[in-house]
Amino acid sequence: MVSHAENIIENLTTAVVVADTALRLQAVNPATEMLFELSAKQMVGQQLQRLWPQTVPLVSLFADTLQTAHSFTRRGLPLPLPGREVVVDMTVTAILPGRETDICDAALLLELTQVDRLRRLAQEEELVDRHMAQRAVVRGLAHEIKNPLGGLRGAAQLLERKLSESEREYTRIIIREADRLQGLVDRLAGPSRPYLQTQVNIHQVLEHVRSLLLAEVGEGVLFRRDYDPSIPEFAADPDQLVQAVLNLVRNAVQASSRTVVLRSRIERQFTIGQRRHKLVLRAEVEDDGPGVPQALRDTLFYPMVTGRAAGTGLGLSIAQDIARRHGGLIEYASRPGRTVFTLFLPLRQDYDATG
Ligand SMILES: Nc1ncnc2c1ncn2[C@@H]1O[C@H](COP(=O)(O)OP(=O)(O)OP(=O)(O)O)[C@@H](O)[C@H]1O
Ligand SMILES: [Mg+2]
Repeated sequence: MVSHAENIIENLTTAVVVADTALRLQAVNPATEMLFELSAKQMVGQQLQRLWPQTVPLVSLFADTLQTAHSFTRRGLPLPLPGREVVVDMTVTAILPGRETDICDAALLLELTQVDRLRRLAQEEELVDRHMAQRAVVRGLAHEIKNPLGGLRGAAQLLERKLSESEREYTRIIIREADRLQGLVDRLAGPSRPYLQTQVNIHQVLEHVRSLLLAEVGEGVLFRRDYDPSIPEFAADPDQLVQAVLNLVRNAVQASSRTVVLRSRIERQFTIGQRRHKLVLRAEVEDDGPGVPQALRDTLFYPMVTGRAAGTGLGLSIAQDIARRHGGLIEYASRPGRTVFTLFLPLRQDYDATG
């Protein structure tokens, strides 16, 4: 039976590792399993160095700690893991046997806090705040443009009747450009209907987008799929999700990449913005194109930010808005040869379908 105290340790977000004097792992908590993406079974009994080769230069410090009982803390320690690198703060404490305790063998206690994640959370919060402020301005502006635009178009139509055939070219230009602007403003304002909440299978969404893009680009791009089939269905507006993913995948294709990977994963106990969720869907669109231009990086999700001559710069802003209205978020990481846009969506949770 798990005691109350053990239960609390199980729920810590700090990774707790206990090693013996030979630096063999004796116990790890679930936060450690999540950090290393290994099960306790796989880790217990292993040498600390096998898990984390960078600990080798620290080994003498561990030995000192065990001898002197002086604990130490290292901040911003890189922790290279297969396929990713995280940064941790680490505190090491020696637990020494004492007469008053029932501890009979010395042990080393490691506490690891993933700090790049904390930094990421602060950035995310800012991203969401900025996004909300922009949306309010853009919606207001879109509304203000729409009304006079209708009048302009109507007047041009009336005028058209009074003009000779050769002069009508001018009114046609007015009408055509007014329609183009109308389309742009509609995209800026986003859908006016509230979002649906139906059960959605993310793989249907990804597959739908893949087939749309395949029809668009033919054999030019190779689509690879890397799905976790165990992801449950969740409440969402399927058309909106298709739109969001389509915007990401279309960007990846337009970035002259040869391969685009669509990936789905589950994250447990994951924080989006300020809310921690038990289960979060992680849908990734990865491409091998040249990467997001440096000049756009800080403002990428702003409306009208584009690096393409024919781009309107709305795709990412719209996708971010759709994610946010599902309680989620889109992030990206980019370098030449590997760009990943990640859509996080909380599973099993009601969201604000109107906002
Ligand atoms: N996967 C990617 N690789 C490289 N650059 C990208 C990628 N995704 C987006 N970008 C850059 O971000 C810019 C903004 O993207 P966004 O989708 O918001 O607008 P757009 O594609 O220019 O226009 P729209 O989507 O409205 O047609 C793009 O113009 C491009 O420069
Ligand atoms: Mg785009």
